[in-house]
Amino acid sequence: MKYLIANWKMNLTAADSEEYVKLILKNILPYLSRVSAVICPSFPSLAIISELLSGSGIALGAQNCFWEEKGSFTGEVSPLMLKEFNVDYIIIGHSERRQQLHETDEMINKKMQAVFRAGLTPILCVGETFSERQLGRKDFVIAGQVESALKNIQLVNKKLLIAYEPVWVIGSGQAVKIEEAEHAVRVIKQVLIDLYPNLDLKKDVEILYGGSVDSKNINYFTSSPLLDGVLVGSASLDVDEFSQMAKIIFENLAK
Ligand code: PGA
Repeated sequence: MKYLIANWKMNLTAADSEEYVKLILKNILPYLSRVSAVICPSFPSLAIISELLSGSGIALGAQNCFWEEKGSFTGEVSPLMLKEFNVDYIIIGHSERRQQLHETDEMINKKMQAVFRAGLTPILCVGETFSERQLGRKDFVIAGQVESALKNIQLVNKKLLIAYEPVWVIGSGQAVKIEEAEHAVRVIKQVLIDLYPNLDLKKDVEILYGGSVDSKNINYFTSSPLLDGVLVGSASLDVDEFSQMAKIIFENLAK
């Protein structure tokens, strides 16, 4: 199985999302025996999408959450509230939130703890900016983001997804080379081994690549034994592209 996760960001209204999901359901059901598909719509679409996906084999994800369960936090949404809509996955620490909403490593760590407390699975996004890369700090940044996100968290009986998403590649139309993504996976795995010597990396952690993945390059990322799937933004907004990507993963895994 490989993950194919759609991050729709703030692109679709509830009505658009409904239409998209109906088409996706028509197209990708035959591939779900080898593809773990997850759709992450925006909050107002969760109710309708949850209903449509119920029993389909496609999982539901959210794009963010707050770190408290309830209380005076105007505008925020807790993991428990998301769970009510059958959300299984929550994207945490996406670079757009780190940059535009100034989410810090500390906030991301609190959100990770909250997601685990609710019994849900985080999709932790990590990745370097272009200037960090130019300064030669790439691996250091990735390792630091993983380490701080997992501070004070015991990974026992928990599932964790980590997406390596180089910030400068997101939405650029140009993915990194597979070798670069594989290198990042090794860096992430080394941090996990150092933090959790008893962790079963194969069973408990899935490492994904994200950043301009589309039907033309998904083959590289999903054929690599080091990568457990992809997190897709722009290309997931095109139903045909998304279906094609599911088909490519399915066919690759059959080989
Ligand atoms: P992209 O976005 O596929 O449009 O590069 C990926 C992401 O932000 O998760």
